Amino acid sequence: MKTASNTATRVNSRGNSSEHPSGDERFRMLDTSLKKLRYQPDALIEVLHSAQGLFGYLNNDVLFYVAHALKLPPSRVYGVATFYHFFTLQPRGRHSCTICMGTACYVKGSGEILVAMEEKTGLKDGVTAEDGSLTLSTARCLGACGIAPAVVYDGEVAGQQSPEDALKKLQSWEAEDGQE
Ligand code: FES
Repeated sequence: MKTASNTATRVNSRGNSSEHPSGDERFRMLDTSLKKLRYQPDALIEVLHSAQGLFGYLNNDVLFYVAHALKLPPSRVYGVATFYHFFTLQPRGRHSCTICMGTACYVKGSGEILVAMEEKTGLKDGVTAEDGSLTLSTARCLGACGIAPAVVYDGEVAGQQSPEDALKKLQSWEAEDGQE
């Protein structure tokens, strides 16, 4: 069985492979953030921010992955993830939209995407709709600065987003859910 920790080892030894051994593209993006932060244990909070932005929440696999990559005891990573209210260890809404507010994305207009989504949904950053349909959140850097502004919709990273793109995505989710 593949574990989070042996996946991390393979990634580090293979460098910038375009396909992550886990088959989950989000781990590759997390690797980019880790690399950017030079695998510094001090960057734990920032790394957890990126991870939550990519995965929507911090499950055990992700926490172990981060602990292994930063060479920290899992108990320390878990302690930090549970200490700060902005981290969540539970899955949230049926759909998730995470808007990157890191510098590269912000200068390219991610703030306007957030405002448009907040206005349309009535949600604020980090809040899940009462009916459980959507969780809106932000991240500091998703490791995808080259395609800024980046937004993660249901775990899929999309680049060069505009407020219109985000609202269209929201509409398509509403249409999908209405058909169920
Ligand atoms: S600032 Fe790096 S992905 Fe947004």
